[in-house]
Parts: sequence; structure tokens; C-alpha cells
Amino acid sequence: MRIFIDTANTADIRRAAAMGVVAGVTTNPSLLAKEGVEYKGRVLEIAEVVDGPISAECISMSADDLVAEGRRIAAWHPNVVVKVPMTEAGLNAISRLSAEGIKVNTTLIFSANQALLAALAGATYVSPFIGRLDDAGEDGMEVVRDAVQIFETYHLPCQVLAASIRSPRHVTLAALAGAHVATLPPDVLFQMVKHPLTDLGIQRFLADAAKYTPV
Ligand code: G3P
Repeated sequence: MRIFIDTANTADIRRAAAMGVVAGVTTNPSLLAKEGVEYKGRVLEIAEVVDGPISAECISMSADDLVAEGRRIAAWHPNVVVKVPMTEAGLNAISRLSAEGIKVNTTLIFSANQALLAALAGATYVSPFIGRLDDAGEDGMEVVRDAVQIFETYHLPCQVLAASIRSPRHVTLAALAGAHVATLPPDVLFQMVKHPLTDLGIQRFLADAAKYTPV
């Protein structure tokens, strides 16, 4: 499973990228609003730091507007993946953009059927929102598991990108469910590094290392 980082904050992206485990970045209008910056400029800054897929989201609602916006966004940088929401108009836009070779990440996926439709329309990624499903009393990870199984059964070349991840446990479960990618808020990625026994172990080794002459 590849790890993407789900933020538009360049300091966090730089810190995460320095760990050598980040293969891509996902953004959305809410993440951009937190930064209060211009979308294209920020995506180009991100592209300087991470050499991998960078999802940038369309905000149009009609199919024709989504296609026009998707083309515009895709032209920003070769690594840009256009995020399109799961609607009827979105599916129409996904099929047209994909036919032009533009990579699409279908966002706001909350069921395996929505994932199937997006894959059939030609999406490169589908993004089931795990945390938001869990918040609504459903099992978000079930959508990941089902979508992975359906894509494998029918050899659909679409990747399941587990999104709306809220905890390190979600990451483990997404990996076990066969997600191709999980996009993580920076805090979740940084938490994954830590374990109290690792910290304790380092303290003990350093204390013992002080008792002999190092090489
Ligand atoms: O980028 C989409 C997704 O990861 C949003 O997560 O926490 O707003 O549900 P969240």
C-alpha cells in the first residue's frame, strides 16, 4: 500500500516527504481554505517537494463545467490528478476526462457501488471516506474491502485510495483490506512513527552506550 499525505500545508508536506515514505499528495477545497492560499500556486509548490500524484479538486457541478475545469487543473503540472465528485455529472466528466488521458480521483465515495461506477467510467482512483462513514455509524473499512474485491474480481484498473483516515489503526486496517493507497493527515503519519517502547529502548541504549568507549 502506498502512502499519500492529505494536506495542503507545505511545512507538513516537507516534513513528511523527508521521511521517504510519501508517494503522493491529496488536497481538497477545505484543506486549501485552511491555508488561505491560491490553489494553482500551492499545487506547483507541492510538486517541487513530492514527485508523485497530486490530487486537486474540481468545484464545478455540471458535466461540461467539470470537464473544462478538469482540463484546466490537469494542465497545471504533469503529476496533477483531477478530483471529481461522485455524481451523475461527475461520472460523465470522469469518462470524458479519462478518455483524454487525464487521471481522475473520484472523491466522496461512500459505497462499493459508487466505487464500481467510478471505476467503470475510467477513474484512476476512488476515494472512500472511511472516517466520515464511521462517524455516521457505518463501517467505512467495509467499503474499502468490497471495492478492492470487486476491482480484483473484474480486473478493473482502478486503485482504491482510502481517505478520511483518522487514526494509525485506520491505516493498518486499510492496508489489511488491500487498499492500494491511503492518504493520511500529517498527524496520523507522524503518530505512526511513535511507540513508547521505542522511545524507552532508545533511552536505555543511550544510557548503556555512555558506559563504554564508542567506536
Ligand atoms: O481528502 C478527502 C478526505 O481525506 C477528507 O477527510 O477528515 O475531512 O473526512 P475528512
